[in-house]
Amino acid sequence: MVTQYLSEVKELVKIKLSHSIGDSNPIEKSMLYSAVADSKMVRAGLIFASSEINSTLKQDTIISLATSIELMHTYSLIHDDLPCMDDDAIRRNQPSSHTKYGEANAILSGDALQALSYEVICNDMYLSDTYKIRAIKLLSKACGKNGMVLGQCLDVKNETKLTKIDQKTLDHIHELKTGRLIECSILFGQINNDLSSDELSSFKAFSKKLGLAFQIIDDILDVTESSEVLGKNNNSDKKNNKVTYVSILGVEPSRARARKLIESSIVDLSRCNLRNFDRLVAIAYYLIERRK
Ligand code: IPE
Ligand code: IPE
Ligand code: MG
Ligand code: MG
Ligand code: MG
Repeated sequence: MVTQYLSEVKELVKIKLSHSIGDSNPIEKSMLYSAVADSKMVRAGLIFASSEINSTLKQDTIISLATSIELMHTYSLIHDDLPCMDDDAIRRNQPSSHTKYGEANAILSGDALQALSYEVICNDMYLSDTYKIRAIKLLSKACGKNGMVLGQCLDVKNETKLTKIDQKTLDHIHELKTGRLIECSILFGQINNDLSSDELSSFKAFSKKLGLAFQIIDDILDVTESSEVLGKNNNSDKKNNKVTYVSILGVEPSRARARKLIESSIVDLSRCNLRNFDRLVAIAYYLIERRK
């Protein structure tokens, strides 16, 4: 079962997260508070699942790459919850970082998590420098000014727009703010694998569709699940006057679109001619079935 797999991944990654962060000063304590809290570890799970295709990646390296992505993801959540962004007081079943430690500390925790995410890759014992640089480039591209941060910028900008954005623009925002890090996670599992250009483009098509589907489901869960189940406040998007998949299409058509994307992503993956991708397929299906 996928939830069992993700909790096993979580046990491994949590140890590395704790060691990498430490808890000897106030900033380390607040970083740790958010990073090891109650999360699903989907991105770490995608790295592990992707690496099942690639037998040359060492377990220690898989854990380093998964830790790096989860550090980056935690930073993005801390900043996403800030009063100037989504203003959410609950995250991962506990008060969000700024609620517990104050805004300045939350911003700084995010900053330090981001820096640490690169440091963890640099410190890996087994990956060659060439592949480390490849990983750092992939991650910085996924998260920076043409990736997640741009997506978050457009997301916040659109809250205030009088003319509502259309589905195509929303796809673009979702692909940037959430999709890019998910794509990066899947590609991390192939970081030292020289795939042919056909394999790589099918793999990228799979990852891109999965990333978009992930955020569509997140939009749906925001209105269909309770805050207790989600571990974060529901109806956050409505509160912030966000355009989401649900506000454009409604719940069921949005679910149908996510399902179609997942099914089509699996067709892309099966085109790659790679073996051992069953786990990736299982996670892809789990992403549309999940309730939190
Ligand atoms: C939430 O991500 C933020 C989005 C990008 C939609 P997750 O739903 O993976 O959150 P955690 O890591 O399990 O807390
Ligand atoms: C968050 O999207 C995307 C990033 C953190 C980059 P949301 O704002 O929808 O995520 P939740 O619903 O707060 O987890
Ligand atoms: Mg947001
Ligand atoms: Mg949010
Ligand atoms: Mg959301």
